[in-house]
Amino acid sequence: MTDIVIIGSGIAGLSLAVKLAEKFPEKKILILTKANEGDSNTQYAQGGIAVVTNFENDTYEKHIQDTLIAGDGLCNEEVVDIVVREGRQRVDELIQWGTKFDKNEDGAYKLGKEGGHSEFRVLHHKDITGWEVERSLLAKAHQAKNIEISQHHFVIDLLTQHHLGRVITRVTKDIQCYGVYVLNLETNQIEKIESKMVVLATGGFGQIYRATTNPSIATGDGIAMVYRAKGRVANLEFVQFHPTALYEPGVSPNFLITEAVRGDGAILRTKDGSDLMANYDKRGSLAPRDIVARAIDNEMKKSGEDHMYLDCRHMDKDNFLHHFPNIYEKCKSIGIDVFKDMIPVVPAAHYACGGINVDEFGRSSIKNLYACGECSNTGLHGANRLASNSLLEAIVFSHRIFEDICKELPNIKDSEAQFPQWNADGTSDPKEMVIITQSIKELKDIMSSYVGIVRNNGRLKRAQERLYLLFKETEELYETTTISPQLLELRNMITIGYLVTRCAMLRKESRGLHYTTDYPEHTKIADSTML
Ligand code: FAD
Ligand code: SIN
Repeated sequence: MTDIVIIGSGIAGLSLAVKLAEKFPEKKILILTKANEGDSNTQYAQGGIAVVTNFENDTYEKHIQDTLIAGDGLCNEEVVDIVVREGRQRVDELIQWGTKFDKNEDGAYKLGKEGGHSEFRVLHHKDITGWEVERSLLAKAHQAKNIEISQHHFVIDLLTQHHLGRVITRVTKDIQCYGVYVLNLETNQIEKIESKMVVLATGGFGQIYRATTNPSIATGDGIAMVYRAKGRVANLEFVQFHPTALYEPGVSPNFLITEAVRGDGAILRTKDGSDLMANYDKRGSLAPRDIVARAIDNEMKKSGEDHMYLDCRHMDKDNFLHHFPNIYEKCKSIGIDVFKDMIPVVPAAHYACGGINVDEFGRSSIKNLYACGECSNTGLHGANRLASNSLLEAIVFSHRIFEDICKELPNIKDSEAQFPQWNADGTSDPKEMVIITQSIKELKDIMSSYVGIVRNNGRLKRAQERLYLLFKETEELYETTTISPQLLELRNMITIGYLVTRCAMLRKESRGLHYTTDYPEHTKIADSTML
């Protein structure tokens, strides 16, 4: 029996582990992660972390207001206040732990601006902020003698009373988490890890779509596990599509052209060179993401083109090369000179605003189970996340979870329940992997065609019916086949596809990232979609 298991080694999991390891030097802090330790959405973050540091021009109130406007009436105002105000201290901790943010010659932080922000406030490390955050957190975690990172450990499911034979339903009040079943990919054995507390930091699920900025780990595993364990998940219809992923057919994930490029003056254009946003929003290319992504989608549908353009040709060369060296090199590698050519861009699935429902200390509806980072629904983002608020949310909530664990851990006794080992009776090796890979393709097609940027009742119904077929086939496969990461991810992604579609069907209005032509207006009362 361990004390605390953290699932995931992105910013949420690592920042929590570092704190717990310092507070409890005598305890082992175990991180399970399904791929290499650095494989995460965190590693890909470009723009940076939104936080108020320049109090001459900026205020907490302005950041709060920008977050609420983007969230379109569905943010939890208390949580917005907490994240914006506590964020500064948490960012200072990241800096103390070794994260380097770009500075001006006078020593002040260089601040970027992204869509929906009224001020320059985004701390960044060139255009590879996430890489720098992940690097420094991993280095800090490696220094701690009591943090163990088990790579290539794929968590399958949460241990709850269900595994003791008790019937658990979505209205059961006292569901408790006792640990996890995990597939050790090095031994191919399924292990049972019992733990007093479990923290899910498993990230988002962009991989359920054809075009996504998310790496292959982003398959929504944590959210699917909680739903299977009959815990509460919420607001899953709010999938954020980033307006400017590089158009590069056949390449996955799509390389991101950070919004900070538009913050520095780049302009979205149609093929004939017109300002794409001129007829859509007075904030132009820097309007919030939902509005820009929808405008691009609309222009693509109208013109039949498969991409639009981002124009950087007028921008200051030195400044561009200094702030966006990675983007410059990537474009160059495929024959695009950003100072001579416009960059072809498309919207791509980018961020899950909803997830495992948690309170202001990251506690889920399942006892002794926390969720942190992109897999959680804290109420910060509402119907649409403000750019660069997600790294901030992860560090604020990992600290709050840390505080709660410090308080609660001494009160939890070792469980005397006898949980069974994993039962693989009746399963055999799959005859052909093509069934799984083909089902994943089908899932992506369904979600991209029917549950994308613009929705309607007919498309959602179609998606639901087709997903049900995939679900039945996959459950059959799961019952009869030896478990593999591909099968587990397929199963999780189908669950997520179902949840996104179901939440979208329940929302009989358009709000934030959820736009349906059947109900183009807001309803009067904004409420979360809770399953
Ligand atoms: P992740 O960093 O995704 O980590 C999830 C971890 O869980 C991984 O280690 C994964 O392997 C592990 N895992 C998942 N399932 C399992 C399982 N079943 N078993 C074991 N381990 C598992 N946000 C910003 O605020 N600013 C930005 O500039 C920004 N830019 C972005 C650019 C890109 C291209 C992308 C994709 C995202 C960007 N975001 C940005 C969003 C932000 O990066 C993520 O929301 C954030 O990093 C999520 O952190 P996390 O720790 O919650 O999850
Ligand atoms: C970007 O750099 O454009 C992404 C920022 C984010 O997703 O918060």
